[in-house]
Amino acid sequence: MSESHIDPDARAHSERLQALIRSEIQSAGGAIPFWRFMELALYAPGLGYYSAGATKFGAAGDFITAPELGPLFAECVAEAVVPVLQQLGPQAHFVEVGGGSGRFAGDAITRMAQMDALPARYSILEPSADLRERQGEYLRQRLDASQFRRVHWLERPPQDEWHGVLFANEVIDALPTPRFAIVDGEVMEEHVALDGDGGFKRVDRPADALLSAAVRHVERQLPQPFAEGYRSELLPQLPYWIQAVIGGLRNGAMLFVDYGFARSEYYLPQRNDGTLRAFHRHTVSGNVFANPGLQDLTASVDFTALAEAGTGAGFEFSGYCSQAAFLIGNKLDERLAAHEAGLEDEAALYALRQQAKQLTLPAAMGEGFQAMGFARGVDFEHAFLAGDLSHRL
Ligand SMILES: C[S@@+](CC[C@H](N)C(=O)[O-])C[C@H]1O[C@@H](n2cnc3c(N)ncnc32)[C@H](O)[C@@H]1O
Repeated sequence: MSESHIDPDARAHSERLQALIRSEIQSAGGAIPFWRFMELALYAPGLGYYSAGATKFGAAGDFITAPELGPLFAECVAEAVVPVLQQLGPQAHFVEVGGGSGRFAGDAITRMAQMDALPARYSILEPSADLRERQGEYLRQRLDASQFRRVHWLERPPQDEWHGVLFANEVIDALPTPRFAIVDGEVMEEHVALDGDGGFKRVDRPADALLSAAVRHVERQLPQPFAEGYRSELLPQLPYWIQAVIGGLRNGAMLFVDYGFARSEYYLPQRNDGTLRAFHRHTVSGNVFANPGLQDLTASVDFTALAEAGTGAGFEFSGYCSQAAFLIGNKLDERLAAHEAGLEDEAALYALRQQAKQLTLPAAMGEGFQAMGFARGVDFEHAFLAGDLSHRL
């Protein structure tokens, strides 16, 4: 992000967050783990990227997620999960983790209503107060009153027993991630320290037992050990996060869509500085310390780790495929045809087809993004019949 493009309010905002991070580094004795830096940069109350007011999603924001492109993504997800809701009956719930602008919920609820398959409750689990407010405003306008009454916001995962579907698009990539490095054959954890000029720099400290064990577990599954100096990300807490986020889910399905790789591809020898990156105004940057609070920070998902975490939480693995295969396998062509039938204007038709291309072309979101599902007490394998990739895990 070029310094000259930042307006004075945004700069002052980032400076307040930098002061907070600096004081935490000082009270921690000179360095904090990278994951803590990322947590503050994204979620510090009132100051973090997701907790404060700027527009993040869509053309005017910093990045475009699949639901922001138009209704096709959410409609295909509805096609995939409605059979699960129907198997569970009228008391089934739908929980969306990390609701973004609310656009996904608007399109999914509209499609579920058309299919006569609305869940008893549609809950959005959203830690950011600012986003909860934006989602509420958007959905109040977008939905009719009887649909809107089913929408609830959760600050914490549902603790009471529930049955239904849990869905998360691009949430795991936004979880604060530890970074590790191999130095003199030992596992180190990347920390963030002050560079003497008021900026931040990375320093390595010995990793704790949890991170070391997780790195060695991954390494044992790779064709060769990590080389000296290798650096990447790893989320040892993913199994705990999954168990926490599903809360009291008894029977039902979980569906995760995100960008990432199977483990052997994630930790390729040449990907020796990990997958962490920053986004600002649709530009990707490797400078994750620049202007905290004004840029998104994100790391790709290790889908092998997600498969381990989902099955470790007591669910059966339902399938893993590219986003393109998932959408095509869940009636993308029918949804496209349904929208096309209502359109006469050439520009709108062009935009609709662009939306489908953006979602499915390999060079756009089609291959880099993947979908993975889990189920307990219901069948969810029907959603993954096209293009199974589970042999890669
Ligand atoms: C990249 S955005 C994706 C938003 C939306 N799902 C979409 O596809 O447009 C990440 C979202 O995850 C939320 N989030 C981050 N950590 C979370 C957590 N631990 N639990 C629930 N939501 C979380 C953020 O507040 C934000 O809404």
